[in-house]
Amino acid sequence: MPFLMGIDVGTTGTRAVIVRPDGHVVGAATGDHQPMRMAKPGWAEQDPEDWWQATIRAVRAALEKAALKGADIAAVGLSGQMHGVVLLDNARVVLRPSLIWCDQRSQAQCDWITQKVGAKRLIQYVSNPALTGFSAPKILWVREHEPKIFDRAAHFLLPKDYVRLHLTGEFATDVSDASGTLLFDVTHRRWSREMIAALDFQAKILPRAYESPEVAGEITRETALATGLATGTPVVAGAGDQAASAVGNGIVLPGLTSATLGTSGVIFTYTDEPKLDPRGRIHTFCHAVPGKWHVMGVTQGAGLSLRWFRDQLGATEARSAERTGQDAYDLLARQAATVPPGSGGLLWLPYLMGERTPHLDAQARGGWFGLTAAHTRAHLIRAIFEGVAFSLRDSLEIFKDLSIPVEEVRASGGGSRSFLWREIQADIYAKPLVTLGTSEGSAFGAALLAGVGAKVYSSVEESARQAIEVRERMFPVPERAAIYNQQYQVYRNFYPAVRELSHQLSVG
Ligand code: XUL
Repeated sequence: MPFLMGIDVGTTGTRAVIVRPDGHVVGAATGDHQPMRMAKPGWAEQDPEDWWQATIRAVRAALEKAALKGADIAAVGLSGQMHGVVLLDNARVVLRPSLIWCDQRSQAQCDWITQKVGAKRLIQYVSNPALTGFSAPKILWVREHEPKIFDRAAHFLLPKDYVRLHLTGEFATDVSDASGTLLFDVTHRRWSREMIAALDFQAKILPRAYESPEVAGEITRETALATGLATGTPVVAGAGDQAASAVGNGIVLPGLTSATLGTSGVIFTYTDEPKLDPRGRIHTFCHAVPGKWHVMGVTQGAGLSLRWFRDQLGATEARSAERTGQDAYDLLARQAATVPPGSGGLLWLPYLMGERTPHLDAQARGGWFGLTAAHTRAHLIRAIFEGVAFSLRDSLEIFKDLSIPVEEVRASGGGSRSFLWREIQADIYAKPLVTLGTSEGSAFGAALLAGVGAKVYSSVEESARQAIEVRERMFPVPERAAIYNQQYQVYRNFYPAVRELSHQLSVG
């Protein structure tokens, strides 16, 4: 039987999963990353070499858990955190740590791009506005602040494509990940000559962009030795983590939407053609389904909000988790469940790394609001679960404005493992929340794309039919939904009311 491997180069770790064509996961393992370095507020860097070492550990461990040999794997698919900038010299040496997706230092470069190209023309060329999250402003930051490094840059790669370079020796990417660079003509699915000229970049530093299921290289002999994979195994182009996760969630047909809670949080919908928000609040990108597109809204600090709480204020849970072998996040959720919906009027704004949807504001700042002496730790925690879901509802409201239909939402990512967070999402979105048979998300989607490349499936849509099953459908409870609906009206008006003050707090 052919087995498929998906590798997701995430933020906190690299995950490898091995999947049977019927969607059953036979082995999975994660290689942890070093925490991202935040030398200044809003900066976020990681070492690409660390991703590669984590990939080796994850692939080896997944093969071992599945009791399989490299030769049993028919094809490998890649997925990864989007937008990060890896610069390499002519000898393929990494020139500096990667500025990753949530790095916010490039607002000045975004302003410059918007002025140089023009806001309208930007949307014409690349379907999206200039945002600090995207790659091109980050590359410009390096050009301006570290010209000696920039002058030596012969190649630009996205995070998963750096791992691909190790696996196959090829410089390549895929159309979905390329869409998040601000250098890609999303409508025509090719690098944008206009943007490249406007920013005075050299086209030759860009990798070749493939459709996601296309084979874009093979495992080299050297990599086979390092990972246990077999020499010559095909590696498909794969997808950015959101498009890959959408494939893993079956978001490959019109009308389907997912909510992914990882470090970031994303609401994602399939579209048959590029669908643009004139205000640029949601991203319009190529999908991993050849010839199709998607829109998505992004909350920068979703799972990150809860991790921040665990790391900074959750020593009690962390200790107790260590003692009892339980998960610290489960302990936090258990406390949150002891207080009623609405957290006694306490709001959490999850803007710990600025915000994309809907504020497009790198200087947005987060925090609790509405605290009284009656609030307890449990309220603080529950408000975080709720605030992240409010923030994702902002994206659903924009979809509504654009007449993009959403009937139900498929829950995915690490956050979907929490019953409480699923319940809160169903009530806050006021939509049925669907859970699927696997919660492997992006790595699973990458494995399905590998299956299409290896002709195990005839198309991405067919992979969804064969490998994805609905496990649970949770319906919103009207009383709770009504409480949240009222609180959401406060939430959505809150940040605009404090934006100016928030900017005054944002110190470089
Ligand atoms: C998507 C995005 C995040 C990262 C990290 O636009 O920035 O989803 O890919 O997961």
